Amino acid sequence: MARHLITSAIPYINGIKHLGNLIGSQLPADLYARYLRQRGHEVLFLCATDEHGTPAELAAAKAGKPVAEYCAEMHQVQSEIADGFRLSFDHFGRSSSLQNHKLTQAFAGRLAELGLIKEVTEEQVYSVADGRFLPDRYIEGTCPNCGFDSARGDQCDNCGKLLDPTDLINPHSTISGSTDLEVRETKHLFLRQSELKDDLAKWIDSKTDWPVLTTSIAKKWLNDGDGLQDRGITRDLDWGILVKKGDEDWPGMEDKVFYVWFDAPIEYIACAQEWQDAGKGENWERWWRTDKGADDVTYTQFMGKDNVPFHTLSFPATILGSQEPWKLVDYIKSFNYLNYDGGQFSTSRGRGVFMDQALEILPSDYWRWWLLSHAPESSDAEFTWENFQTDVNKDLADVLGNFVSRITKFCRSKFGEAVPKGGTYGPAEEQLIADLTKRIRAYEGHMDAIEVRKAAAELRAIWVLGNEYLQASAPWTTFKTDQETAAMQVRLGLNLIRIYAVLSAPFIPDASAAMLAAMQTEDDRWPNDVAAAVAALPAGHAFAVPDNQFDKITDEQRSAWSERFAGTRD
Ligand code: 2FM
Ligand code: ZN
Repeated sequence: MARHLITSAIPYINGIKHLGNLIGSQLPADLYARYLRQRGHEVLFLCATDEHGTPAELAAAKAGKPVAEYCAEMHQVQSEIADGFRLSFDHFGRSSSLQNHKLTQAFAGRLAELGLIKEVTEEQVYSVADGRFLPDRYIEGTCPNCGFDSARGDQCDNCGKLLDPTDLINPHSTISGSTDLEVRETKHLFLRQSELKDDLAKWIDSKTDWPVLTTSIAKKWLNDGDGLQDRGITRDLDWGILVKKGDEDWPGMEDKVFYVWFDAPIEYIACAQEWQDAGKGENWERWWRTDKGADDVTYTQFMGKDNVPFHTLSFPATILGSQEPWKLVDYIKSFNYLNYDGGQFSTSRGRGVFMDQALEILPSDYWRWWLLSHAPESSDAEFTWENFQTDVNKDLADVLGNFVSRITKFCRSKFGEAVPKGGTYGPAEEQLIADLTKRIRAYEGHMDAIEVRKAAAELRAIWVLGNEYLQASAPWTTFKTDQETAAMQVRLGLNLIRIYAVLSAPFIPDASAAMLAAMQTEDDRWPNDVAAAVAALPAGHAFAVPDNQFDKITDEQRSAWSERFAGTRD
């Protein structure tokens, strides 16, 4: 059995994420973690909230709360929603943890010691009234390009032009509104990642098995110049990780914090420490230090495509640059975007379905199934209510739900609520076992390769096999002339329910648990040997007809929801 470290990109703290965010990292990571655990591997699955940076400060200010309080509350909210979606993190940490503060400062100290950090003096806007330097986003004014009067210091939201704060006409501080701004000199730290270019290039070149989406983005950034420029890793913010060299002060850096993209990926490591410190496990170093056993670990990261440069270049630069025996990622699974009904999901405009709202209207399995079976792997994908209604009704209600309900109800009416005995397999059963074996092996192959859509298609095909068998063998007809054979057919069908529960658990864990409960079994062994698995529940084993598992989505629901989620979240 192998050991697998799995991390999902850590979502920003500022607000509840939408379904596009969910399918871009957390959900497929959960699918993989659940599958590997079921196959008997040792898994450490980590995620956290990304709590620093201007967006966190701004969101807290908007909510009228101190940042620390805002972050603590939002972490709780995101954590509960993650539970609602059954995301099976071993730990859901926080990038603002003490562990991450210490580790981030330790990395910075180490990189400085090795000459990989340089101090650069820059000119930056200072607000006299606020007594601080202002990050670009804290300055607004009139756009020199289109005249829009609340263009931000980094970009105009109206015309899209990228700006420098000094380009703005009549600039003011968004903190106090003050126009008493001056340009002053200030010092920032830069990570000299250009020094590491060759090491990074060699490392990326060695990853021949990575998805094309991941390597193409990595190589583009590596070779197009921009990607490997020395990178500023400090900011003028109140909230964040203070700039220190390990435990020591960093002269001239007293009012600065590390840039959020410097400390966020370090949280992947700190999160394992948090997991241990929370008493959930032992020996975190065994997962992260190659000198302490992590050599045996396979480390897989999940993320949306916009995160790829940070994970293929910036974070590895931190790790490689430290020359310490940290585990580097083995495989990066990245995703394209999920669009919403002819446009984009938009957090600022409240367009699309957000995670809390999704759970208000339907059980998590509906979302998990649709999102995973339409994962934006080879290209962007689109959520439409029509497609959601059609596919969920067909796959979950008509195929899987119908199979379970038909076979259990038929058995109850003719044989009672226990697996019936008698009869022997014929050619149809042998064929079914052969077909199932082939498809289950293919399903495992796709899951091992994290080919999410292909795995979903194969699972659906496995469900269909059961329906086709039932349709062709027609135990309700057989029963009239040959009760023994009908009993055998029904016994096989009931055993398929257990097998489906086991195979489907990574996708639809609640439905899967309900199916096992209905079959009154805790036998969740993977069907390695299909011929044996179809006989796992022996004659005489009691079961109960489950409640209808998947209500169909009606046309009325569909149109009400499509209207409700068209824009501006209240
Ligand atoms: O894009 C995002 O949502 C970022 N918060 C992801 C950070 S992943 C990492 F580096 F920790
Ligand atoms: Zn403009």
